[in-house]
Amino acid sequence: MVGTLSACGGESDAGSGDKKDDGKITMGFAQVGAESGWRTANTKSIQEAATAAGIDLKFSDAQQKQENQIKAIRSYIAQKVDIIAFSPVVESGWDTVLKEAKDAKIPVILTDRAVDSKDTSLYKTFIGSDFVLEGKKAGEWLVKEYTGKTDTVNIVELQGTTGSAPANDRKSGFADVIKADPKFKVIASQTGDFTRAKGKEVMEAFLKANPKIDVLYAHNDDMGLGAIEAIVAAGKKPGVDIKIITVDAVKDGMTALADGKINYIVECSPLLGPQLMDLAKKVIAGETIPQRVLTEETAFTPEQAKAALPNRKY
Ligand code: AHR
Repeated sequence: MVGTLSACGGESDAGSGDKKDDGKITMGFAQVGAESGWRTANTKSIQEAATAAGIDLKFSDAQQKQENQIKAIRSYIAQKVDIIAFSPVVESGWDTVLKEAKDAKIPVILTDRAVDSKDTSLYKTFIGSDFVLEGKKAGEWLVKEYTGKTDTVNIVELQGTTGSAPANDRKSGFADVIKADPKFKVIASQTGDFTRAKGKEVMEAFLKANPKIDVLYAHNDDMGLGAIEAIVAAGKKPGVDIKIITVDAVKDGMTALADGKINYIVECSPLLGPQLMDLAKKVIAGETIPQRVLTEETAFTPEQAKAALPNRKY
């Protein structure tokens, strides 16, 4: 069964606060929101995997607000769920609520995004991607693409949600790689909150303020796709006049890549559901699990996107 909490973090499937004793595992999952194609695929993966694993899932959508996620987690603690999982919208500010879960003896699994808590005993494991590596892969493609060229390369960057692990890490991984060559200049960098609408809006401003943009690095496909609309509206050809690198590899991004509107996509897999349910069962059974479970990922050129698209699951 998939339960839901209302979008503002209030309860719609809260129950009385008394734990059911039907032998079924109950998981409270506090999702970030529905900001991107990646997130939609991630939510579907978690809901389908819970059903397949026979786990009773209570699900909440925090609309990209930390306070809503904290409310949802507190509600799961009050309901005495067996296990809590969540994808923290930002990295900081979780210690208090994680301590409350620990005191209530409810184990917590982090999915997709990390927290910066020093006390790692506050959660059992963290399953997700290496976002720094994703940023590095984006930078490495750029360095290769401009090998042998000496002219300045003006880069604009669309960052993910401010304070989130993927925004922090994709920015630093990329910067680490390109800093070796002074011809690469990040001339503007601003958040687009991982959404298509914000990506378009911020790219419009970038285009107005900067007459020469050579490259756009967007921390996800959705912002890149929004930016493409702005680039076209400004009379430029995406992928040609402005080279575009994004992260995720959802179907819409892969289609734009195959069409030559995006030049390179670093994959970030949202299909975390089955592994999450497996880990949850092991935690409840008292088995030892690794503190960090890394997601395996690749990257795509236009040719590789064309080959991968027919079998793409998300
Ligand atoms: O945390 C993963 C990121 O969140 C994805 O790359 C982005 O699309 C999503 O919103």
